[in-house]
Amino acid sequence: MPHPLIDKFQRAGQGQVFDFFQLLSPEAQRRLLEEAAEIDLAEVERLTHTLLRPGATEGIDLDGLAPAPYERRPENGGDAAAWSLAKTAGEAALRAGSVAAFTVAGGQGTRLGYDGPKGTFLVTPVKRKPLFQVFAEKILAAGRRYGRPLHWFIMTSHANHAATEEFFAEHHFFGLERPRVHFFRQGRMPAVTLDGKILLETTGSIALSPDGHGGSLRALDRSGALDLMKREGIDTLSYFQVDNPLVRCIDPAFIGWHIMRQSEMSSKMVPKAYAEEKVGHFCTQRGKTIVVEYSDLPMAMQREKVASDQLRYLAGSIAIHLLDREFVRRMAEGGEGVALPFHRAEKKIPTVDAAGRPVKPETANGVKFEMFVFDALPAAKNPVVIETLRVDDFSPVKNAAGVDSPQTCRDDQMRQFARWLRANGVALETDATGKPRLTLEVAPLFGYDEDSFADAWKKLSPPPAIVDALYLA
Ligand code: UD1
Repeated sequence: MPHPLIDKFQRAGQGQVFDFFQLLSPEAQRRLLEEAAEIDLAEVERLTHTLLRPGATEGIDLDGLAPAPYERRPENGGDAAAWSLAKTAGEAALRAGSVAAFTVAGGQGTRLGYDGPKGTFLVTPVKRKPLFQVFAEKILAAGRRYGRPLHWFIMTSHANHAATEEFFAEHHFFGLERPRVHFFRQGRMPAVTLDGKILLETTGSIALSPDGHGGSLRALDRSGALDLMKREGIDTLSYFQVDNPLVRCIDPAFIGWHIMRQSEMSSKMVPKAYAEEKVGHFCTQRGKTIVVEYSDLPMAMQREKVASDQLRYLAGSIAIHLLDREFVRRMAEGGEGVALPFHRAEKKIPTVDAAGRPVKPETANGVKFEMFVFDALPAAKNPVVIETLRVDDFSPVKNAAGVDSPQTCRDDQMRQFARWLRANGVALETDATGKPRLTLEVAPLFGYDEDSFADAWKKLSPPPAIVDALYLA
């Protein structure tokens, strides 16, 4: 049956997508055509010629690579007066309502082995609150503190969009005003064979997967989020990943640095815990700030030391950024030198054989394409990298056990609560790592950082007894 879209695929050498079309029900045919319409065939062809050409996997360009400079925290030799000015500037922006929160939650969470949107995973030590609730309460609390409720943008994927929206509805948006929470879906990219042919997942569907967190820039534009921000007077997005409940979703000093430096994209770094830690590295190259992934920076360089036995490539990226609205628009519109590059990942992609029977490959049979948000950094004017304390900003849940697992994350949350209590004069017993002997939890609406916690604690009269399973709310 002739169809203009099928013709177009055939002319592009991708006619195999419709090999089983005649065997499908009219409804399944319609769905397949809809999926095919999502694909930018010129983009796929360009990627085939660049990322799939022989030699495309040979390492990255290391020429002129050096560690990126960053603003040190005052206790590490940074400029205390500048940090204090930054905090004041950030607080003013929050009072003016020019900042919104932004969570990328479109990932598939395969490493954690959890079935469901990752944001619904239960993370807190006593109340077992889900990740989304932790962020929601932090955002609600910051809105109250600065007298301006914040908007929150959440990027989902096709696979988890409906489930995410339902989860929020079921939980009454965790107390946030419904009209200030905005969900939008990220784009998808087709997986291709090693020679660039688009793969079918079943006879009636294309192997499509999320286009990476870098796809958030296009998706913010396409979904109308940028226009909404403009109407609401929001200039800055506070970007964080769904896997990290320790993040300060809204951090005045960070926002202030971004504003004072007229930066279009700012980032937080933590000193890497050890050479092999799997984080990206902030670097400079030919005058630009870039992030080089752990998988791309040769291990010998990751282990390189400078005087005083410190790692040379010390600045680890914890995927926390601030993005200027019009910068996002510029990046989303793309064009020479501004479009985000794609990265390739070889994967085992379930597909069908020539007879349409399902195939579960044992080895990589195809390539997925993803964009990374940090690749926008070299295009940003005046990018700033600031140091942050890992203990106050980063403890992701990535793996079911071991490092970056639910257990390490709960422990890190409790260490933070213990530090806040001790800073306010509470004699709390901890082990050598600062982990309290008792289980405890602080609700973000009670305190979501050192300052807000101290304010709330001082108001308690008398202060509560410190007992196991203490929950401060
Ligand atoms: C990522 C960063 C790494 C950083 C580390 C910090 C990359 C390639 N690497 O690693 O530099 O040091 O986090 O924790 O990103 N997501 C989407 N859509 C997608 C893919 C991902 O929304 O298509 C979201 C996920 O929901 C998650 C976040 O992006 O919130 C991170 O994704 P993940 O693939 O888990 O990144 P990591 O490899 O852990």
